[in-house]
Amino acid sequence: MNNQSIPIITIDGPSSSGKGSISRKLASELNWNILDSGALYRIVAFSAKLNEIPIEKESLVKNLISKLKIRFKLLDTFEQKIFLNDCDITSEIRTEICGQNASRIAKYPTVRDQLVGLQRGFLKKPGLIADGRDMGNVVFPASKLKIYLTADQNERAKRRYNELKQKGINVRFAAVLDDLKQRDNQDKERNIAPLKVSPDSVLIDSTNLSINEVVSKILSLSKLRNIF
Ligand code: DC
Repeated sequence: MNNQSIPIITIDGPSSSGKGSISRKLASELNWNILDSGALYRIVAFSAKLNEIPIEKESLVKNLISKLKIRFKLLDTFEQKIFLNDCDITSEIRTEICGQNASRIAKYPTVRDQLVGLQRGFLKKPGLIADGRDMGNVVFPASKLKIYLTADQNERAKRRYNELKQKGINVRFAAVLDDLKQRDNQDKERNIAPLKVSPDSVLIDSTNLSINEVVSKILSLSKLRNIF
């Protein structure tokens, strides 16, 4: 089996649309590999801060990437642990500020180029669920099932707000909504690989759907298209 025949399902969409939970559940049900590409952008932004590299310096940020030793571990609980140089940085990269910085460095063409090879390296047997903003359009254009997952902006902000509250993080709903709006704009309006619905993707609006309902929909589509 060459890389071209390994099945891929790409799941793109804006922040807090449920991509992460749905991708992890799908990967777990199918026993496939998973690529959380947003985590890669977050790790780069986190490492830049850690190494006191200014986020504004594209070439310094880009040069950092080849030195990173990254490892993902999917637990039975569908949670994902992320290690940088063998240190667990799962919670550090999930902060609002790290998300904002990730979105800022994601505008840099050289950073995106450098990450494409790394992302394609996740394509291994028996299959891959790739979650991000440009998985179907740029990184895995040959994927036979491309999902664009979205939800109403207020609903996404509510999900994010509840997630933060559950973690004991005290935030105002208005601040979460503002942050989300800013990130949506940044991700959709950048010049390179912007977040957009491609003509060959299937749009799923999860505003009124549970995680399990979205997972079932994707599994049905996969069967219809003979993905596995
Ligand atoms: O999915 P996330 O919130 O963890 O992603 C963090 C940021 O990384 C997001 O705001 C934009 C960027 N990103 C990207 O540009 N392309 C991807 N494939 C994934 C994430």
